[in-house]
Amino acid sequence: MSALRNRSLLGFLGFSLLVSLASGCGGGLSSAGSPSGSRADVARGGRLYDNWISEKKLKDSFKPDSAKTPELDGSGGPNGNGTLSDGSGKPLPNTGHDYRLKNLFGWDLRGGQGIYGASYQKKDYVLAQSLLEGARSEQQLAEWLKNGDAQVPAYGAVLDDGDLRDLAAFLVAVREHRVPRPDDVFTLDESAPKNYKLLPGADPKRGAATIAKRCSGCHGSQGTKFAIDDTESIGSISRSSGYEIWLKIANGHPGSAMKSQLLASDGGGAERGKLVLDILAALCDRQAFPKLENGSDVPDGDARCGQYLR
Ligand code: HEC
Repeated sequence: MSALRNRSLLGFLGFSLLVSLASGCGGGLSSAGSPSGSRADVARGGRLYDNWISEKKLKDSFKPDSAKTPELDGSGGPNGNGTLSDGSGKPLPNTGHDYRLKNLFGWDLRGGQGIYGASYQKKDYVLAQSLLEGARSEQQLAEWLKNGDAQVPAYGAVLDDGDLRDLAAFLVAVREHRVPRPDDVFTLDESAPKNYKLLPGADPKRGAATIAKRCSGCHGSQGTKFAIDDTESIGSISRSSGYEIWLKIANGHPGSAMKSQLLASDGGGAERGKLVLDILAALCDRQAFPKLENGSDVPDGDARCGQYLR
């Protein structure tokens, strides 16, 4: 009897060890205990925010309704046609957002006030509210995303409670600056290409040392080992789209081997945000982190990298 109990206890310990190993890189970013008792994975929440279809590997089972046609003509999901429903159960057509939260609220989570808003990239599918503001708890945010409202899809049809918990934990952690915020990394500027500029005050040397330690193993010492979107190196894509890449460095790239590149030992949200800025500033060096042969690059004087452009 007691031998049996010990065996199952050992099994349980082994299982917990596996789970904690599996959460690896993201572990440092996990928030404190959630109501269900298990810990939310903030970085995974960030990847779900970016692209839940990729992160959950649903590409074959959920094809979003095409934004280019008036018919509801995707496949999968609660309505079988690639739509999600709104809070009242009515199918929400895809107007170009593909049901991605980063499209509905932007890479900076600021909604209509932010980079996708009317003053900047002018995406007509962006929703007004900023997720960097407000006082909703993780539980309230998870409920809201689960059930949707007049404009927000009811994600409960495609995301489970663990997904919703991770997403809500991410939103609150960014809002409360326990992890990097977009305003640690860039400012919005109507006159800059893509309407953003990296913040001043970065340490590109520290960024380059961090890249050598944390990124080169996968991307190669110049960030050119494999192509991103067929034509981009990590240098070229970061120089033209730093407002997106900050979220990838902080949380990982959805559905890929790249998890959060930040560690608990990097410090609090502001310190980690500064490290993301340092990395992006280092990636502004076109010699150290060149474009691919078949790719293009930002021109001299480009405002996105600004003073960091080499
Ligand atoms: C474990 C391997 C691994 C590590 C470590 C890693 N990456 Fe990645 N990274 C990937 C993979 C795989 C992709 C996805 C490529 C794809 O699917 O197109 C990726 C994608 C990217 C992208 C493109 C994202 C996009 O929008 O498509 C950038 C930029 C990037 N990584 C930068 C970095 C930086 C900077 C670091 C270090 C701070 C880093 N990566 C660390 C494996 C890694």
